[in-house]
Amino acid sequence: MTKLKINYQQAIPFVSEEEIRLFEKEINLYRDHLYQGIGKGSDFLGWIDLPGSIDPDLMHRIESDASNIRKESDVAVVVGIGGSYLGARAVTEALSEAFEGADEPGTPLVYAGHHLDEDYHHALLRYLQDKDYSVIVISKSGTTTEPAVAFRLLRKQLEEKYGREKAAGRIYAVTDAQKGALKQLAGEQGYASYVIPDDVGGRYSVLTPVGLLPIAVAGHDIRSLLTGAKDMAAHLKKEEKLHDNPAALYAVIRNMLYKKGRTMEILAGYKPSMHYMIEWWKQLFGESEGKEGKGIFPAGVNFTTDLHSMGQYIQDGIKNFFETVISIKKTQHEVVIPNDPENLDGLNYLQGKRLGFVNEMASRGTMLAHVDGSVPNLEIELPRLNAYHLGELIYFFEMACALSGYMLGVNPFDQPGVEDYKRNMFALLEKPGFEEETARLKKRLKK
Ligand code: PA5
Repeated sequence: MTKLKINYQQAIPFVSEEEIRLFEKEINLYRDHLYQGIGKGSDFLGWIDLPGSIDPDLMHRIESDASNIRKESDVAVVVGIGGSYLGARAVTEALSEAFEGADEPGTPLVYAGHHLDEDYHHALLRYLQDKDYSVIVISKSGTTTEPAVAFRLLRKQLEEKYGREKAAGRIYAVTDAQKGALKQLAGEQGYASYVIPDDVGGRYSVLTPVGLLPIAVAGHDIRSLLTGAKDMAAHLKKEEKLHDNPAALYAVIRNMLYKKGRTMEILAGYKPSMHYMIEWWKQLFGESEGKEGKGIFPAGVNFTTDLHSMGQYIQDGIKNFFETVISIKKTQHEVVIPNDPENLDGLNYLQGKRLGFVNEMASRGTMLAHVDGSVPNLEIELPRLNAYHLGELIYFFEMACALSGYMLGVNPFDQPGVEDYKRNMFALLEKPGFEEETARLKKRLKK
């Protein structure tokens, strides 16, 4: 039994209970396609049974490498982009304290290779100069330009700092079993290496060493994360009743709203630590569904912060979207609003109340206001933010995304559109083999 719940009462004015029930058969067909491996993209279904089938030796290796990194490094650099870094960042930031403190369980992570900004990478190299650090370089293809360039910069600095051999002992590569430049480099330089399974795509890979190694370095409980995902996997596989299967229910309702013209979904959180979880969700759904001229555009907001920026648009703008709110029922800590005898700020009506209660009321009030403003609202409820429930949430989203993609009629496991910008970038960088394209693009830019 999962404690993750989908509340959809505030979507009911926009889709009826009867309509939802009509989709029970269809969604079960797509569930069969996934579990039997007969739907689109069936070469990439390794994530389905992943949480329950991780090799115990692999877990021990991850934990032992993470412990070595924690012992010898002040900081670990995670080099990767898209699915090769967002999952680790999402989980780590969700589970870490907002301000670095003595009670942080692991080594802090910093990130590189997730963009090409020169000033960022200059600052990063300067920040790392006087620190002991390790590098976890992650790329399934092993050829993605952003992480490859960042890794070249970091490798040079590490080798100058520690010498080639000792630097190699601080580098951990996570990549394909056979192919790619990173695989070759890791083999030749003797880096500790981990394999990303062939049948698991980047954005579905957080529960492989791609996410598990950095998350363990940051000191979080990867076994609980996997147990949460495994329990969710078992629940979703067993439950054929639409209303007892949150992934199927979420996939159905969002597709119904899409068909009624809600072509955008805004995922809202009320905790800043969930920011990267929302970013991970955006990648999962955006890259999985946006193809063949179709797909729900995934956007994200952090409330109440963004109520003072995007709130106006959400309340009164064009109504082509719906909203899904992630509600975390219990906070980790208590902060009580104190009494002030002078009450100059007029806040004594809140004295003795917890800040979490005020946040909760802001969330309830916002939901009702947005529904009144004609925005269908869904709610994904989690009891609290810990590794176990994050594992549940991750697997729930992965399954919902796969089912939703099948409902849309697309292959949720490929990303052919991502290649177009790469081709143009290579041509403009005059990469060998792109000569014809280089001339054509340069002409277009001169116009
Ligand atoms: O989900 C995906 O497949 C992508 O977002 C990839 O993770 C991303 O492009 C990085 O690719 P790679 O790991 O091959 O460097």
